[in-house]
Amino acid sequence: MNILVVGAGGREHALCWALAKSPDCGTLFCAPGNAGIAGVAECVPIGAENVDALVAFAAEKSIDLVVVGPEAALVLGLIDALRDAGIRAFGPDKRAAILEGSKAFMKDLFAKYDIPTAAYGRFTDYGEAVAYVRAQGAPIVVKASGLAAGKGVILCETIEEAIDALGAIMRDRAFGDAGDEVVIEEFLSGEEVSFFALVDGRTALPLVSAQDHKAAHDGDTGPNTGGMGAYSPAPVLTPELEAEIMQRIIGPTIEGMNAEGRPYRGVLYAGLMITGDGPKVLEYNVRFGDPECQVLMARMNSDLLALLLAAADGRLDGAEVAWRDGTALVVVMAAEGYPGAYQKGSLIKGLDRAGGIEGVTVFHAGTGAEDGNIVANGGRVLGVTALAATAKDAQAAAYQAVDLIDWPEGFCRRDIGWRAIDRESSH
Ligand code: AMP
Ligand code: GLY
Repeated sequence: MNILVVGAGGREHALCWALAKSPDCGTLFCAPGNAGIAGVAECVPIGAENVDALVAFAAEKSIDLVVVGPEAALVLGLIDALRDAGIRAFGPDKRAAILEGSKAFMKDLFAKYDIPTAAYGRFTDYGEAVAYVRAQGAPIVVKASGLAAGKGVILCETIEEAIDALGAIMRDRAFGDAGDEVVIEEFLSGEEVSFFALVDGRTALPLVSAQDHKAAHDGDTGPNTGGMGAYSPAPVLTPELEAEIMQRIIGPTIEGMNAEGRPYRGVLYAGLMITGDGPKVLEYNVRFGDPECQVLMARMNSDLLALLLAAADGRLDGAEVAWRDGTALVVVMAAEGYPGAYQKGSLIKGLDRAGGIEGVTVFHAGTGAEDGNIVANGGRVLGVTALAATAKDAQAAAYQAVDLIDWPEGFCRRDIGWRAIDRESSH
């Protein structure tokens, strides 16, 4: 079978790496891909949001399955365009991708189908939003409803901060159209965990949990990023909790989406807070997480291609998925300055040595090739991923590999996985 993966990050490298292992994988293409992906797939220079060119390419190459990584392409309707052209694709269509594309839609779905989440209000009028904040008090959370590349959520400790956030989003339009509407939410405390399931419209196949580190610096300090590292499984997610999440959150979401005439197919990524009152959904993403996908693929011991085909074809009922023992952990190496301004083009050496460490795979998130060398080409640049018996061992292997990478212009956190390691050492 000919496969096309759409996207250019560490997530797409991990997906290509896993798909390439399938006995049914023929020619594997990635659009646009990166220098690491080029090692396992044929990269084609078409942007992930160039819907017409992607459809034309898939038709020309007789692609049997298109796997779409990033949310923007899904929200734009790439899956719809592919299906209209008779091309099989994995991911939600535009009507279902609204679950990530509009937080206002998502929160109303939770309310209508009694899915546990933070109390909220949704507003298009600045004055009404300010009045709501004053009535609720602080701490409180202000969110742009639309897609804002992970930056549209502002945790506010005081009423004044919340009013400033509303001004930035609604008046100064800091996130453009994504801030036409805001969601204002109750502040939840607890431990955060991500949970993933494959969905085929009716049936959900639970995958596994992961925890990511969104803050740029050690000790979970500094600005929010797309994710500086992750590990799987997350020890906080017990089998009992998983059953509760499937029954009270994932199941009702799939039924609700069907009842709304928006059947969901693809991977459902639930961002959850484990509160004193049980698990509550913070948000849904309609795609694999990045870098969470890297640790999921490192652990998966089933044919990913077969699973994605089953999800796309509505055949997940009875499907099973196997996982390797142990913990997978990914350390993201980013360009100095990220998530603010950073330089591109610096030379990266030592990748072969790093990848030679047992259990380690170095996924590329933002690299290019220049004169036979690998150069940085993005904010998050590498995802150094290790699988080992324990979180502590996986962390040690990942940092051993990181230390073999010669890239003075890069940085990483040195404490990825600390929560899981604390738990291990207290048992
Ligand atoms: P989101 O993009 O909605 O996942 O939000 C980004 C981050 O903000 C989450 O990973 C949480 O750490 C935090 N967050 C979002 N909503 C809330 C909430 N209602 N209470 C506390 N923290 C939140
Ligand atoms: N790592 C967070 C995300 O993919 O949204």
